[in-house]
Amino acid sequence: MISRTLMKGKSLVTLKDFTREEIKDLLELSKQIKKNVKAGIDFQPMLGKSMAMIFQKRSTRTRVSTETGIAMMGGHAIFLGSDDIQLGKNESLKDTSIVLSRFNHILLARFYAHADIVELANEATVPVINALSDKYHPLQILADFQTIEEQFGKLQGLTLAWVGDGNNVLHSIMVAGPKVGLNLRIATPAGYKPDSDVVEYAKEQAVENNTSLLLTTDPNEAVTGAHIIVTDTWVSMGQDSEAKKRIIDFEGYQITMNMLATADPDWKFMHCLPRKPNEVDDEVFYSDRSVVWDEAENRMYTVMATTLSLLGIDL
Ligand code: CP
Ligand code: NVA
Repeated sequence: MISRTLMKGKSLVTLKDFTREEIKDLLELSKQIKKNVKAGIDFQPMLGKSMAMIFQKRSTRTRVSTETGIAMMGGHAIFLGSDDIQLGKNESLKDTSIVLSRFNHILLARFYAHADIVELANEATVPVINALSDKYHPLQILADFQTIEEQFGKLQGLTLAWVGDGNNVLHSIMVAGPKVGLNLRIATPAGYKPDSDVVEYAKEQAVENNTSLLLTTDPNEAVTGAHIIVTDTWVSMGQDSEAKKRIIDFEGYQITMNMLATADPDWKFMHCLPRKPNEVDDEVFYSDRSVVWDEAENRMYTVMATTLSLLGIDL
C-alpha cells in the first residue's frame, strides 16, 4: 500500500488523474473506515477541519453521505446550495474558489458543466472533489468498485456490462475500470454513445492493463457473460426537456431477468440511484442479485477515504 501523503494536495476531478495504485489505496482506506464505523470505533481525524460543499444540482446520496461522513470524522461540512452563496449571481467562480479556500481545508462541488469543476480545482488553493459533473462522477465509481470487491472478493478479471446512456457515470467507469482490471461491455443506443475522448482513453487503458472493451448498440450482446450489470437513468439532471424523446430512443434497453439470461450465473445488478423503472424493472431492481443499497452505503466510506487522502491525513 502506498503512503497516504502521496495523494496530499491532489484534487479528484476525474479518475483519469489517478493511478491504479492510488485507486486501490482509496479503496483500502475506505474498507478500513467501513470496519471502524461498523465496529463503533470513534475516530476524529478531521477535528478542526472543514469542507465547503457547493451543489448546483439536487442530491440525496452525495450530500448526505458527505455531510454525515465528515461529521463522523470530527470535521464540519457546510452545504451551499445555488441560492445560498453569491456564485453565479454576484460573484465569479474564480473569486468564489479563492475565498472558499481561505476558510476551508477542502472543497466539494456538483456543477453542470465539467469545465466549472476544472476551473474550481485550478483556482482553489485547497483540494477539490468532483461530486458529479455532466462529464464524470468519480465518487460514485469508487463506491461501485468497493461494492464489487465485497461481492466477488476481487475486481481483476471480472466483466462489467453497461446497458444505458453514454453519460457521466459510464464515463467514470470507462476511465477507471481498466485500471482495476475490469473488462467492459458497453451497450448504448446509437445516438447516446459515450464521448469519443473517453472512448479513446478507455481503449488505451484497456491495452495497457490487458483488459477488454466492447462497444455495441445491442444490450443482449453486452450482458453476455457479465458478472456485473450496471445502468443509470436515461434522463440525467439537466436533460429534462429531452425526456420524452429519450424514453422512445431507449426502447429495448430496460434491464429484465429475460435480458440477463446469458449473463454469468453469479451476476449482480448495480445502479447509482436515483432509479426509475424505465431502465430496470422491479423484478431485477428488488431481487437478491441487486446490490444497490450496499452501493449507496459505500458512497459514505469512499468519500471519507477520498477526503482524508487528499488532505494527507491518516486514520
Ligand atoms: N448517486 C448519486 O450521486 O446520488 P445523488 O444524486 O442522490 O447524490
Ligand atoms: N447520470 C445521473 C446520475 C445521478 C447520480 C445524472 O447526472 O443525473
